[in-house]
Amino acid sequence: MEVVIVADAPAAGVVGADIVSALLTRTPAAVLGLATGSSPLPVYGELIRRSGRGAISFAAATAFLLDEYVGLPPSHPASYRWFIDHELAEPVDLPSERVNGPDGCAADVAAECARYERAIVEAGGVDVQLLGIGADGHIGFNEPGSSLGSRTRIKTLTEQTRRDNARFFDGPDAVPRHVMTQGVGTILDARHLVLVATGAAKAEPVAKAVEGPVTAMVPASALQLHPHVTVVVDEAAAADLRLADYYRETFRSKPPWQQL
Ligand code: GLP
Repeated sequence: MEVVIVADAPAAGVVGADIVSALLTRTPAAVLGLATGSSPLPVYGELIRRSGRGAISFAAATAFLLDEYVGLPPSHPASYRWFIDHELAEPVDLPSERVNGPDGCAADVAAECARYERAIVEAGGVDVQLLGIGADGHIGFNEPGSSLGSRTRIKTLTEQTRRDNARFFDGPDAVPRHVMTQGVGTILDARHLVLVATGAAKAEPVAKAVEGPVTAMVPASALQLHPHVTVVVDEAAAADLRLADYYRETFRSKPPWQQL
């Protein structure tokens, strides 16, 4: 696991965008795993700027969302599909028909989750998966207690997550109780995981995920089991990392041939 500590959220956006840009340059038909929430926004902002000046293109890429609220159609402004369409796909040249997400309105949720798993495999798997982290250490919507081998399935949100996400709805009561999310096992199948976390509220979950024990109580700690993980944090989110100086030194002295 590589931990990259940067000054602030815009700098985290540049590092995340560097990883995605390098992938698209290498593999124009790449499969991107996209996260929602505020953490990846600086990455998307930077990608939009680069796409705008023609430095990168998403025209041949495919994307898979991590998760979706059960019951929300893509036209709902709080749906994750709406979020990704507006925050990334439309401002760049990512074709809408190649943005995939679990169908929040599927009549058969279990069948939809199984279909989504198959779709990811049929696309060749995810090359780079962007991730945020919840205050309770969740990734996607894998709340504490999620099996570290879990696949895409329905989950019930914790009260804390519903409160945290209430800002996108008309109050906490309007936040759906159920979601469909890629499982921890699904996420670990991606070839490169990039977790972006900024701000003091993320210091504790980041430290638990990176330096704590691997436990279902902190689903993001499962990243320690993956061979290629980049954790991009600003100084505030890095505040509780015991090995912060070592991570800084490692990054500073990285051999030039070694990519992120
Ligand atoms: C939601 C999403 C997660 C995201 C988390 C943190 O729960 N399902 O994918 O990581 O929010 O969001 P933020 O980045 O806004 O703190």
